[in-house]
Amino acid sequence: MSEKIKVAVLVSGGGTNLQALIDKEADGQIPDAHIVKVIASREDAFALERAAKAGIETAVAKEPQQVMEELQKSGADMIVLAGYMKVLPKEIIERYRNKIINIHPSLIPKYCGKGFYGKRVHKAVLEGGEKESGATVHFVDEGMDSGPILLQKAVEVKEGDTPEILQRRVMEQAEWKLLPQAAQMIAKELSI
Ligand code: GRF
Repeated sequence: MSEKIKVAVLVSGGGTNLQALIDKEADGQIPDAHIVKVIASREDAFALERAAKAGIETAVAKEPQQVMEELQKSGADMIVLAGYMKVLPKEIIERYRNKIINIHPSLIPKYCGKGFYGKRVHKAVLEGGEKESGATVHFVDEGMDSGPILLQKAVEVKEGDTPEILQRRVMEQAEWKLLPQAAQMIAKELSI
């Protein structure tokens, strides 16, 4: 059997998507990848605790240079952005071209790009009177939420939804399934 693809997960927040990756890897649902490191853009990211609990090496990297150094040290073959709130430096995008994926909580091209992050996305979806929303996993390029789409999953918008309720439904029904699935897809391709 060939070696597993080494994955670095970049985070900024609560890390529920990271948790989904950790759980699915433990379950054997990401057989071609192994999370080698979690890099956070801020030291108070709860995602760091999730990583530590799972025995995964962690680092806090605030400056672009530090992110590059941590990636290099980790020997990562691919990068998963799981609620990473910073723009990746050009050098990293170039070096890991088609090996960086991101999860966005809407059906791209709707409600993405500048200003569409966190609850703002779901608030805008509700204000737009949409009947469905969802999540998208895409490759990361130099733009914002603009790289080629890998996977999308739609989720129903229900009467009386608040941004919080919709966010939770999108996470449960789409994000936490889609991101591990996409990570496995790319890892499998890279391992051939
Ligand atoms: C998710 O909604 C993700 O789609 C977006 O940021 C949020 C991160 O949540 N990019 P978590 O830190 O994984 O809980």
